Order: sequence, then C-alpha cells, then structure tokens
Amino acid sequence: MNNNNYNRPTNGTNRPVQNTRPTQNGARPAQNARPTQNARPTQNTRPTQNARPVQNGARPTQNARPPKKKMRFHPNKDGIMAIIVLLLIVAIAITVVVCVVKGITNAINSSKTDDTTVTTATTETSSTTEATTVLTDIITTAPVVGAWNEGYELLNFANTKVHEGDLVLVNHNYEYTFPSTMEKKIASLWGLEGYNTAYVLGNDTRLNTSIVHNLAQMLTAMKAANIATLSNGYNLQVASGYRTYSYQNELYNKAVANGTEGYSAIAGHSEHHTGLAFDIKVFYKAPDGKTATYDLRAAEQDWILANCANYGFILRYPAEKVDITKILEESWHFRYVGVPHAKYITDNAICLEEYIDLLREKHTYGISEPLSITANAKEYLVYFVPASVENDVTAVTVPSSGNYTVSGNNADGFIVTVEK
Ligand code: DAL
Ligand code: ZN
Repeated sequence: MNNNNYNRPTNGTNRPVQNTRPTQNGARPAQNARPTQNARPTQNTRPTQNARPVQNGARPTQNARPPKKKMRFHPNKDGIMAIIVLLLIVAIAITVVVCVVKGITNAINSSKTDDTTVTTATTETSSTTEATTVLTDIITTAPVVGAWNEGYELLNFANTKVHEGDLVLVNHNYEYTFPSTMEKKIASLWGLEGYNTAYVLGNDTRLNTSIVHNLAQMLTAMKAANIATLSNGYNLQVASGYRTYSYQNELYNKAVANGTEGYSAIAGHSEHHTGLAFDIKVFYKAPDGKTATYDLRAAEQDWILANCANYGFILRYPAEKVDITKILEESWHFRYVGVPHAKYITDNAICLEEYIDLLREKHTYGISEPLSITANAKEYLVYFVPASVENDVTAVTVPSSGNYTVSGNNADGFIVTVEK
C-alpha cells in the first residue's frame, strides 16, 4: 500500500522516496547489528549504497552472540525449567476453577430465566408462524413490573421485524428490505371503493392500504378548505405512490441523465417502496379537454403544511433538512408516520432522521422515560426498544391492555406507541 505513495512523487519529491527504500532494506541488518550502533552515522551520510555493506557487516556480530548467551543461561537452565513447569500447573489449576464456577453460574441463570420466558424456547414458534403484521409476530408474553410501566408485559419479536412498520426510516443510509408481509398491503388507488377525493395518476398508482383512509380524509378536508383554488377544472392529484425497485431504478437513471438526481433516491433507498409515501400535485383539466399537472400552489401548500400531521403525514424533505435527508426540497412528497409522531416532528421542526435519533438517544426503554405527545386531544407515550444483539428475538415491553402499536425503525430497534 505504501509503495504506491512512495512511487508517486517525481523530481524534487523523489529524494525522500529513495531514502525510504534503503532504510527498509537496511532495517534488518541494523536490528541484527544493534550492539554495533556505529552503523547509524552511515545512514546519515548516504542512503542507498551505504546500507548494503552494513548488511554484510552485521553477520559477524550475529556470530559473536552465541558464546555470550551460553555463558549466561546454562547455569540457570534447571531453575527456569522448574518455573515454567510451575506456571503451567498454576495455569491448568486456574482453568479448572474457572470452568467449575462458570458451570455453577449457568445453572443458576437458567433456573432464573424460567420465570421470565424471554428468548430460547420461543424461536420454534417464530419459525412455524408466518406473521402478516408486526403485531401478530408476538412469540411470548411475560409481565413487567415497574413504575410508569406497571401493567405492561413483554412481547418477543423476531429481529427481522425491525424492517417493518409505519416508522421505518428509508434513506441514503437505510435500505428498504421489501418484507413479504408488506407486499400484501399494497393496493391500487384507481377505482378503490370509497376513494374518490382526488385524481390519481393512472391505474398504477398504489399505496399501502393502511394509509388510504387517512389520505382520503385529508384530501377531502383540503378540498373543502380550498374551494377557491380547487375548482374550475383544478383538483388534487396523487401523482406517485408505491414504487418497485426496478421502477425506482428507471426513475433514478432518468434523473441522473437530466441532472436532477438531487431529487431522487437510489433504488432500494426510496420511501416510495414502502407504500407509505406519496407525491401530491394539482391536476388541471381545461374546458377544451387539455390537461396539465402543477406543484401545489400557495393556498394548497399552506393548508397541507398546517394540517397534514393531524392525519399522520409529514413533509418529508423540507429545505432546512437537506443536509440530513440528502434530498433536495420536495414540496410534494409526504410520508405517513402516524398521528402522534407526525405531530411531534412537525411541531418541533425536525425530520424523521432526527426523530428516530431522538427516541434512541433520549427515550430508550429501561434507560429513560418515554416521550409524551399530545395529539388530536389524546396522550401518547413513545419509547424505543433496541433490538437484541445477542439473540434473534427481542423482548419488547407493551401494555397488557389498551391500544398501542409497535414499529421497527429499519435500523436497530422497535418504537412502541402507547395510547393512554
Ligand atoms: N423523490 C424521492 C426522494 C424518491 O425518489 O424517493
Ligand atoms: Zn416522492
């Protein structure tokens, strides 16, 4: 590796290079010749050619050593052997003691874990039950005793569930894993019963069914509030929803060709893969039948920014967070995260990346208190449970009764949202 660096300099910078190489070659003899420290002046005077003779000169010094060694070590040989044997005996004795103590400790621990039923016995259940949602992936339950979490219990989740849920972070750092369970939830908006509040861009516009209701409600309210702008041929349009890996790849390559890749995620790293994100535009149909699509205008933009959190959505790529999201400002891209999370993110002007970090750093279960959020007149408690690094399964603390959700963060743990 270093050789490349040494080779690079030319002309004036060559000198150190030449000096370095001989020193490497010359280093061996110099070690052998340590007693003859007279060799050092030779290094100072001339690099390359002088180093070689030192090699030759070193050999006789090596030969001179053995007799001295014989004189020193012979008389003590028996004593040293005795010390070595003694050390070996001590080492063996220590190993035996450590093994015995470990055996006893393990026996004690295994009898203790019987009443917490956390991990081992549960893996079998996990492999035989193919879950459809995070919450059905529960493997065992056990009570938790504590202060704020009295009335809570432990649920075991396979660690792979970290990649599922409404709060998965998908960005330049975290790739989407396309869990099979999520594929089943993607539905076309085209002709979807009860969904007639906005235009959709073609019958290939799909979304995660879990957000369709909230989206429809938000668009209905938005239209009602923007009668002036959303009339006379103007309507809202869901311009993009769920995207496959290959479609995102196509879009990204086009963006690169157009020089607009700052607005596009690399395939695998787009939130559109989750079906939880959509692009919203204004669709215009002129009386003569001609159509056009625009970005939201000021009135629509103001309304959606002020209200989207009430429906669980956030503006995902604000101008002020470009350095974190690594995506240029997109006034049209919204992401579902759930009402309390959207409210906290919006009210505190942070982005999803910052929110996930905040939960991990300040609201980790067992280390700190949960985050309390009030949204739509309800109080929620939110906390992070790190995925187990020792086991394939993580014990997550949840209330024994009442409403709550568990979502992976697509990185390193689970986020629990409890409705109080
Ligand atoms: N336009 C967004 C960043 C995407 O490509 O997913
Ligand atoms: Zn988008």
